[in-house]
Amino acid sequence: MTVDACKAIGIIDSGVGGLTVAQEIYRQLPRESTVFFGDTARFPYGSRSPEEVRRYVLEIIDFLESQEIKLLVVACNSATAAGLSHYQERCSIPVVGVIEPGVRAALAYTRNRRIGVIGTVGTINSSAYERTLKRYDPSITVISKACPLFVLLVENDLIDTPEAELVAREYLSPFQEADIDTLILGCTHYPLMSDLIQSVVGPGVKLVSSAQETAREVKEILTRRNLLYPLEDNKPSHRFFVSGKASFFQEIGTRIAGFPIKPYQVLLDS
Ligand code: DGL
Repeated sequence: MTVDACKAIGIIDSGVGGLTVAQEIYRQLPRESTVFFGDTARFPYGSRSPEEVRRYVLEIIDFLESQEIKLLVVACNSATAAGLSHYQERCSIPVVGVIEPGVRAALAYTRNRRIGVIGTVGTINSSAYERTLKRYDPSITVISKACPLFVLLVENDLIDTPEAELVAREYLSPFQEADIDTLILGCTHYPLMSDLIQSVVGPGVKLVSSAQETAREVKEILTRRNLLYPLEDNKPSHRFFVSGKASFFQEIGTRIAGFPIKPYQVLLDS
């Protein structure tokens, strides 16, 4: 067994949303340990400039590398859109983002080649989804819409309220006429409100979240590089670090992850 195979998978997000990706990694790779970093003190990333987000992510990468990781997942669409290639250049380990996996899942599903994308202002303004979709298939029609309030609805546990429905109807109205058959949930928080989104766009539209496909890609890379944890009876550990207060993350994170989380606060420089 190699020493590297015994290391953990690092996961970065701006807050708790990346736990939707982490959950899928726990499910598909039950032997693997993980180290999750939620940059809660500087949340949200979605309204920040790409330069700022890149600086934050590179700082977290420094911290996670000190935690002995064998692969890094940037489980945040805004951070992936801000510069996945910068993180890949900086790291000697594989770095996986969430955009490419989501795009592949959407392309595998669409029949009429009309795909909707929703995400934060940063993700939508970067056009990262549109560029990636068109790189795979230039004939694809992409309709994008930033839905910044969705993140706040999830963080504040307001998704089952009439206000949330009103916001969803307003944001998603461009898709009503657009004849899409696939909608990419291009933000880590959106799978947590997929019932509401589905009810607004209707049953004929397939919602695609990158979580499953990202975890599949992680598994594929670890397998190819001979980095899967070697022992079958391993009891993995899942560690959590946050830059803001631990209590908030503990409460909402426990709800999302489905098991008790005990995060530790790390004070970052900037
Ligand atoms: N994690 C972010 C994303 O997937 C959403 C929250 C934020 O704006 O930081 O884009």
